[in-house]
Amino acid sequence: MSRAIGSRYTIESSPQVSKYHEAVKDVISSEEMQKLKKYSHHHCMTRYQHCVNVSYYSYLLCRKLGFNAEQAARAGLLHDLYEEMPKCSKEHLRNHPEIALENARKAFKLSKVEADVILKHMWPIRKGRPRYPESYVVMMTDKYVAFMEFCIYLKQTADMTIKKHM
Ligand SMILES: [Fe+2]
Ligand SMILES: [Fe+2]
Repeated sequence: MSRAIGSRYTIESSPQVSKYHEAVKDVISSEEMQKLKKYSHHHCMTRYQHCVNVSYYSYLLCRKLGFNAEQAARAGLLHDLYEEMPKCSKEHLRNHPEIALENARKAFKLSKVEADVILKHMWPIRKGRPRYPESYVVMMTDKYVAFMEFCIYLKQTADMTIKKHM
């Protein structure tokens, strides 16, 4: 069962998010996505959870703005589809969108928009300006979500430090 951080709704079973689930169910239940549960991301959660967060909030934002929410949701899930987490270097920050796109293409037939979303999500760190509005939404949501995840990590670290000294 999956749920975006901050959301009350279980993706696979809540009627409130059934349209989102309908749009992503083949991707979210795929072996490729499930494997991401093994890898940690931004110190405090799995890469699977990070991708669910980015996908879900990109979907809501695109729906609100009248963009293609389904494609943003699918590509949001796939935007960090890589298995290993090498040391977080500048090179990794620039290169992993290509790896994710290659992996996503092996498993799913992607639209032009979905491919652009995955490839451009690290702009402007990686050269190549996003081409579609959905790419901008996912690129910004990814950064916002990463910031929130880092705040969760800081809070967990602070709580642990306080406990140690009590
Ligand atoms: Fe990424
Ligand atoms: Fe990401």
